[in-house]
Amino acid sequence: MKRIKAIYPGSFDPPTNGHLDLIERGSKIFDELVVAILRNPEKDPLFSVADRRKMLEAMIMTAGFDNVSVDTFDGLTVDYALRLDAQAILRGIRAISDYEYELQMALMNRKLQPALETVFMMPAEKYSYLSSRLVREVAQLGGSIDCLVPELVAQKVREKMDVAHKFANRGEFAVNASSEGKSRSRKKKA
Ligand code: PNS
Repeated sequence: MKRIKAIYPGSFDPPTNGHLDLIERGSKIFDELVVAILRNPEKDPLFSVADRRKMLEAMIMTAGFDNVSVDTFDGLTVDYALRLDAQAILRGIRAISDYEYELQMALMNRKLQPALETVFMMPAEKYSYLSSRLVREVAQLGGSIDCLVPELVAQKVREKMDVAHKFANRGEFAVNASSEGKSRSRKKKA
């Protein structure tokens, strides 16, 4: 019997509950699903590819999906899919606003490699507003991301934000220190 392998490509910066929902749905209809993180040197990500991989692997292990694995790739998605002998590309569509971009990408991928099929799935309605970009933004501005990402991801995001805030405070200190000579030691102790 033919086994169907699919890849689920994306940035996953960071992986969210919406991604996990889609991985679960994909794992039910495909024999094998590879979550493929794009190594994109042009982007300035919050998490390194290695960190994203670790988070996704932990999420998948915790959820107990035994036909799902995580990998990284660069170059064209279709070339990567062919190297893996995959027959399908899984993508999520949350709202109509995703449709145009996803349709363009699916049709371009089909043009590049007609044998590959793009399969769209919808995450649960409660995740229809959820994106990695909004998770980053909410966290950066001090909002809670607890119901948006798994706990292990929330913890990692909080750690990142703590480091970022420390750096930001140091920057403020440096500016103040250079412009207000004496206040320097007072600020440092505070
Ligand atoms: O999670 P994202 O950022 O929406 O994922 C976008 C991704 C990684 C699927 C897309 O950018 C991609 O496939 N990039 C690889 C390069 C490529 O194949 N480009 C042509 C796509 S039509």
